[in-house]
Amino acid sequence: MTQDELKQAVAQAAADYVAANAPAGSIIGVGTGSTANFFIDALAPLKDRYKGAVASSEATRKRLEGHGIPVLDLNDVDDIPVYVDGADEVDAGLNMIKGGGGALTREKIVAAVAGTFVCIADGSKLVDVMGRFPLPVEVIPMARAHVARELARLGGKPVLRTGFVTDNGNLILDVGGLSISDPKALETQINQIVGVVTNGLFAVRPADVLLLGTSEGVRRIG
Ligand code: 5RP
Repeated sequence: MTQDELKQAVAQAAADYVAANAPAGSIIGVGTGSTANFFIDALAPLKDRYKGAVASSEATRKRLEGHGIPVLDLNDVDDIPVYVDGADEVDAGLNMIKGGGGALTREKIVAAVAGTFVCIADGSKLVDVMGRFPLPVEVIPMARAHVARELARLGGKPVLRTGFVTDNGNLILDVGGLSISDPKALETQINQIVGVVTNGLFAVRPADVLLLGTSEGVRRIG
């Protein structure tokens, strides 16, 4: 199977998970990226079952609306039973690195509201120790150099993502050279640096369920 076929398979499994676990009339949280895009396409035929969706990025909002799925402002929503999103890396504890698409902050906000976080990924994303994928950190533009120095003090090699501005008007530093033995501690430590909006470690609030696409079928963990 190609990587896209694996992504499509987990996206369909996630749509089935949502149909079985999110009550009719509820609001679905929707992530960002190529795997999340396949999920949106799989959700579309069931759209009349749900009140609508909360989007974790402008790109996702546009794709949802393109399918005729109403997109709600998170401030008008009390309850998101299920949030479905991809990951750049995920470990056996369902901690993740996210933000390859630069949507990490909004993704983390939607995840904070969601009852159940379902991570969808092809098998290549499952790792023993995270850090090979450079960790995205969203920063306020005027703090870019300060944050980069602080990240270097932690042993990282921050690189500015060129030509990229987040949906929130900020910059991304992609931090290589990290071997992340304690994801929760590192997530908390980086978020303490003044000027950091948030970082792409999702360990304080990890996924609850991982749907992993493999050539033997979709594996469910959690
Ligand atoms: C976007 C993300 C994505 O979930 C992550 O980059 C995975 O993307 P893809 O499904 O395209 O591999 O965090 O900010």
